[in-house]
Amino acid sequence: MTAIVVSGMRPTGRLHLGHYHGVLKNWLALQENRECYFFVADLHALTTHYEHPEGIRNSTWDLLVEWLAVGLDPEKAVLFIQSWVPQHAELALLLGMMTPLSWLERVPTFKDQQEQLRDKDLATYGFLGYPALMSADILLYDATEVPVGADQVAHLEIARELARRFNSLYGRTASDQAAIEAGLQALGKKARRNLEKLREDYQREGSPQLLAQAQAIVTDAASISEVTRSLLMNYLEGKGRSILREPQVLLTAASKMPGLDGRKMSKSYGNTLGLREEPEQVRKKLLTMPTDPARVGRHDPGEPERCPVWPFHQAYSSVETQAWVQEGCRSAGIGCVDCKQALVEKVIAEQAPIRERADYWAARPDDLRQIAAAGAQKAREKAAQTLARVQEVMGLDVH
Ligand code: TRP
Ligand code: SF4
Repeated sequence: MTAIVVSGMRPTGRLHLGHYHGVLKNWLALQENRECYFFVADLHALTTHYEHPEGIRNSTWDLLVEWLAVGLDPEKAVLFIQSWVPQHAELALLLGMMTPLSWLERVPTFKDQQEQLRDKDLATYGFLGYPALMSADILLYDATEVPVGADQVAHLEIARELARRFNSLYGRTASDQAAIEAGLQALGKKARRNLEKLREDYQREGSPQLLAQAQAIVTDAASISEVTRSLLMNYLEGKGRSILREPQVLLTAASKMPGLDGRKMSKSYGNTLGLREEPEQVRKKLLTMPTDPARVGRHDPGEPERCPVWPFHQAYSSVETQAWVQEGCRSAGIGCVDCKQALVEKVIAEQAPIRERADYWAARPDDLRQIAAAGAQKAREKAAQTLARVQEVMGLDVH
């Protein structure tokens, strides 16, 4: 089974190094060996910013610029904008028909965010439906893995439960066997005989090659509907029918890059270093960082483990420099300014190519638009297949 990865980010402002060392580096690794769908979740941004949507459009393009700047590659991953693929909204609507209100009301973020964002009226249908829309995002692409942070796990649990509920509501009809039989007929005598043989061999030996060969026959069959195709796929594996695939959580480890004050890096704490920050600004922010409070004066020894600057050295400095910091800090052999200075150059050097590429893309809005359009086109092709299966089993007549 090919691994399919789906994840999204809301366009609500510039990215910072916390995002880079947490989420984005993870995505960069995933795009190398999985089928990846990464999208700008502009519809999700609207669930909380519907009263002031002005920033969403610009943030959407900023986010794409930053993705490209860090090395996400439209040749390797499908990069797109959620609202450009209408199937997200359509599937969310259909899932809404069978989503119990109690599941949505129980999601911790629903109440928490309403409390935290008191200046906004979040007693809305759209905000309550946030997890249903997110489920649609994921289930449309038959995702096997969804990389998210701990704060999104409850949402993912809803996606998993909705897939199960959907399959048990619509996946076990008496006519399945008849449909499989008809599907086999439609393949033609030779392909059918081949398929049955491969299936028997696979179920006896469990060899993935046999399964892949059998699946290829089903994939290539032109004259069958998408529902029949998925019935046949499950028939090959000896499974009951699954119309929507239940995804797994791929928990993104919390970024080891804390904020400038040692707390979690977050816009709301005002302790961030932006991904595209100007070198002068980077220098200023790093040089004014708080340090181990024990180092009151230049000759007081300190302890890196108690200093917010130390994790930055761990992320950016060579082993030699790290040893120099540890020794020099504990013996008061170096001053905090020396220590930070060594870091400043490293951070600026790592940022430079990212900033350069960001400037490059930001100056080419037409090229960006083309990348987004090509991504949306690929996404729509995949999403349309899933939606057709859903419409068919939910009793809609599909044109
Ligand atoms: N809710 C996610 C967040 O705020 C963003 C998101 C939207 C998402 N749809 C998704 C993440 C689907 C993973 C899969 O971070
Ligand atoms: Fe922190 Fe470096 Fe100063 Fe030690 S020397 S307290 S690690 S800034």
